[in-house]
Amino acid sequence: MKRIAVLTSGGDAPGMNAAIRAVVRAAIERGWEAYGVKHGYMGLIDGNISQLGRRDVGGIMQLGGTMLGSARCPEFKTEEGRRKALRSLNEKGIDGLVVIGGNGSQTGAHELHKMGLPTVGVASTIDNDLYGSEMTIGVDTALNIALEAIDRLKVTASSHQRAFLVEVMGRDCGYLALMAGIAGGAEAIVLPEIETDPEALTQELSDSYQRGKAHALVVVAEGAKYNANALVSYFEERRQEVGFDVRATTLGHVQRGGTPGAFDRLLATRLGSAAVGYLSNGSAGVLCGLNKGEITATPYAEVTGRHKPLSPEMLELARVMSR
Ligand code: ADP
Ligand code: F6P
Repeated sequence: MKRIAVLTSGGDAPGMNAAIRAVVRAAIERGWEAYGVKHGYMGLIDGNISQLGRRDVGGIMQLGGTMLGSARCPEFKTEEGRRKALRSLNEKGIDGLVVIGGNGSQTGAHELHKMGLPTVGVASTIDNDLYGSEMTIGVDTALNIALEAIDRLKVTASSHQRAFLVEVMGRDCGYLALMAGIAGGAEAIVLPEIETDPEALTQELSDSYQRGKAHALVVVAEGAKYNANALVSYFEERRQEVGFDVRATTLGHVQRGGTPGAFDRLLATRLGSAAVGYLSNGSAGVLCGLNKGEITATPYAEVTGRHKPLSPEMLELARVMSR
C-alpha cells in the first residue's frame, strides 16, 4: 500500500479534524501518500480528491466540524454510485480508504470493502450509536454542550417555577438524552428506545410541583415518539394538572458545532492513527473503536445493520436519581 485516502461522512462531529490529522500524519510517517476527499462519498463519486501533506492538517485540531466537509449522499447507496467512487480512487492510484463517520457511513464503507477496496472505519458520531465502540468521536463534546445549556435553563426555570423540556439530538438513539439527563439532574428522560406515556409524565411533573420543587427538567431525545414540541402541546392542554408553566428548548445542531474537548481530540488521534495501522497490517474491513479503554478493531460484519442498546445500568441509575 502506498496511497490512502480519508473522508468524513454523515453528521459532522467535534474531533473529526483531529482524526483527519492523525490519519494523514500516520500515513506519511509510514512513507505513504495521503489524500483527502471533499464532502464524504459525494467527493468520491465526483473525484474531488487531493493530496494532503503534514502542514495541510496543521492548526485544525481545535476546530469543530471537518476541514474536508461532510455530506449525506444518496447516490452512494446505489451500486452504480459506488462503482463511480471506486473509479475515482483507481484513477488516482489510491489503494486504501479511511472512513470517519457514523452508522450509515460505516455501512457504506462496508459495501466498498466488499467490492474489493481495503477500507477501515473510524467511529465518529455525536449519537454514540455505533456497535463496536463504547464511545465515538464527538459524543463527549456534544454532551458537555448540552449540559451547559441545561445548567443555564435550570437557573431561569427556578426563577419562574417552570418545567423545561430540553430536546437533544439522537435520531434513533437516546444515548445523548440519557447521559445529559443523568448528568443534568433531570426529573424525567424521554427516549426513542422506551415508549413514554405522556399521562405518566404529566403525573411526574404534577408530583414534583406538589412537592414544592422550584423547577422540573425533562430531557427529550429528538427521535422519541413524543418530541419536545409535541409534549409542550400536550402539557399546555393540561396546565392545571401539571402545575408548572412549561417551556421547550431544542438544542439541535448547536450540539454538533462545538470546539472538541480533550477527550474527543485524544480519542480521534488514537483512532485515526490506529486506522492506518490496520490498513498497513492487512486487517482492513474493520471499525476502529474504543472498548474498555483500548483501541480495538471490530469486523464490519459485526458492526453494520445493528443498533447499540442503551446500558441497563445507566437506565436504572436515571430512574433512581430522578426520584
Ligand atoms: P451517519 O454516518 O452519521 O450515520 P448517514 O446515516 O446519513 O450518517 O449516512 C451517511 C452516508 O453514508 C449516506 O448519505 C450514504 O452516502 C452512506 N450510506 C448510508 N447507508 C448506506 C448503505 N446502506 N449503503 C451504502 N451507503 C450508505
Ligand atoms: O447523526 C447525527 C445527527 O446529529 C443526529 O443526531 C440527527 O438526527 C441528525 O444528525 C441531523 O442531521 P442533519 O444535520 O442532516 O440535519
